[in-house]
Formats: sequence, structure tokens, C-alpha cells
Amino acid sequence: MSEAAAAVNTMLDRLLPAAIGPEHRLAEAMRYATMGGGKRIRPFLVLSSASLFEVAQESALRVAAAVEMLHCYSLVHDDLPAMDDSDLRRGRPTLHREFDEATAILAGDGLLTLAFEVLADPDTHGDAQVRAQLALSLARAAGANGMVGGQMLDLEAEDLELDIGAITRLQRLKTGEIIAFSCEAGAILGRASETARQALHAYAHDLGLAFQITDDLLDVEGSEATVGKSIGRDQAAGKATFVSILGVERARAQAELLAQQAVRHLDFFDEKADLLRGMAGFVVARRR
Ligand code: IPE
Ligand code: IPE
Ligand code: MG
Ligand code: MG
Ligand code: MG
Repeated sequence: MSEAAAAVNTMLDRLLPAAIGPEHRLAEAMRYATMGGGKRIRPFLVLSSASLFEVAQESALRVAAAVEMLHCYSLVHDDLPAMDDSDLRRGRPTLHREFDEATAILAGDGLLTLAFEVLADPDTHGDAQVRAQLALSLARAAGANGMVGGQMLDLEAEDLELDIGAITRLQRLKTGEIIAFSCEAGAILGRASETARQALHAYAHDLGLAFQITDDLLDVEGSEATVGKSIGRDQAAGKATFVSILGVERARAQAELLAQQAVRHLDFFDEKADLLRGMAGFVVARRR
């Protein structure tokens, strides 16, 4: 993971605008949002899935950077006072705290837009069909039927009594779809078979849920010093989560079950998928 993080950091640094010129404040904010830490799980998933299909490293790294930009935009907007109103992210003040709200909105917009610019750039892949596939899949994962839709449901979960089915759907949209894109990106880049892509999709589905249940557990059980972000926000907002519905013990058991289930979907692949297998254990054991 640290190798993947270092490689994607170099790529992000290359792709992000330089903090020079009259609009340097925007570039500084975009860099603040992306360059300061983060586990880089989604880039790791892109790189690991790409390694199954002998994809050129430059292509995989550009897609990994694009998905991380999109993820960072989602965090910046998620932390805004109008949403989760969080002060701490990745061990530092949130972007709107360090800069201001308007700059946070614009930096998020800039990152979202740049992610698609990178995917559509011929440097990302020589085949225009592949580039279009990447942009289409990420748009679907990030938009109204994906992350943004999930964020809407998540805000409404403050006032609604959700059952386990509704929470599962909310989390799949909010977190799962971007994780699924990250896993499928390697298959798109490598023009892999439909069977391979479906196996990765099934893996990502269970991994994404295990990941989000753990995020909800950390919000309850974690310490701000370790997690590096504001915690206790879900309960303070009265938000329905896996933990509020199942309780800590059952939520943890469910996350572990999902992680084991995720690994079984990788049976289609040989030992080249071992990094992905390891990631399933990591997402539930993590402390941040
Ligand atoms: C946090 O994601 C936001 C959710 C989707 C729950 P991560 O836990 O991957 O955050 P970073 O990127 O490591 O900071
Ligand atoms: C945010 O979910 C998911 C996004 C799409 C950004 P959370 O609100 O649970 O993420 P954290 O806990 O603030 O990182
Ligand atoms: Mg939120
Ligand atoms: Mg939040
Ligand atoms: Mg959370």
C-alpha cells in the first residue's frame, strides 16, 4: 500500500495545477485536499486490479490519481458545514477550516472536473473506446445514481428510520460504487473479459460494504488522534448507520463476513490477486 501511495502521490503532483498565477489560491486548496495523507485505498485497488491484466503502469497510475481526486472532492464537500460539519480530516483542519467555504466548494469542483479531464486525456490510454468506458463508468459511480445520490440519502438518514435493506443500498451508493469503479478500472484498462470484470465487481461489492461498516464503527469506537478525522458525527447527527441498526458487535461480525465473502469472489484469479485478497482483511482490521 505504501508503494502504491508513493507512486500515486507523484502522479497527483504532476497532474494537479501548480500554485502559481492569479488563481494560485485554488490550486493551493486543491493540493491541500489531495496531497496531505489518506490511505489511498482506491488508487491501490486501481493499481492492483490493473496488475491482473498487464496494463501499462502510466495508464493505471493516471486512473488511480483520477479516482483519488474524485474521492478527495467528495471528502471536501462532505466536511462542509452544510453537510457533516467536520473540522478534522487526515489529521489536519478540513479545507473550509484552513481556507474558507467558498474555496472548499471551488476546490472540490476543480478536483471533480480534473478527474474527468485526466480520464479523457489520450495520455491515459491510446484507445478512445477505453477512455470513454472509463469516463462513463466513473460518471455513473460518482453521480446521482452513485456517490452523490448516496450522500443525499445519507443526509436524509438523519430524520428517517431506515431498515437494513435501505442502509445497505445507501452505503452501496455512497461508498460502494466508487470502490467498485476502482476495482473494475483495471479490467477496463486491460480490456478484460466480462467474466473477469464481473468477478471484480462482486469482490468490490462486498469489500465496499465491509469498508463502510468499518468506517461507521470507527466513528463510534475510534479516537480522533488515530482516525485523523472528526468522529462521533453520525451519532451527533442522529444518523442511521449499520452500527446504529445492528449494534457494534453484529456490525463488526457482518463486516468480517463480508470481507471473507469478498475474497471468495477472487477465486477466478490466481496468486496475482493476492494483493486484492489482502486488502479485504485490511479494510476491516484498519484503525484509521
Ligand atoms: C473516508 O474514506 C470516506 C468514506 C467513503 C467513508 P477513506 O477512509 O478511504 O479516507 P482516506 O482517503 O483514507 O482519508
Ligand atoms: C462520506 O461518508 C462518503 C463520501 C462520499 C465522502 P462519511 O461522512 O461517513 O465519511 P467520513 O466518515 O466523514 O470520512
Ligand atoms: Mg457524510
Ligand atoms: Mg463525513
Ligand atoms: Mg463516516
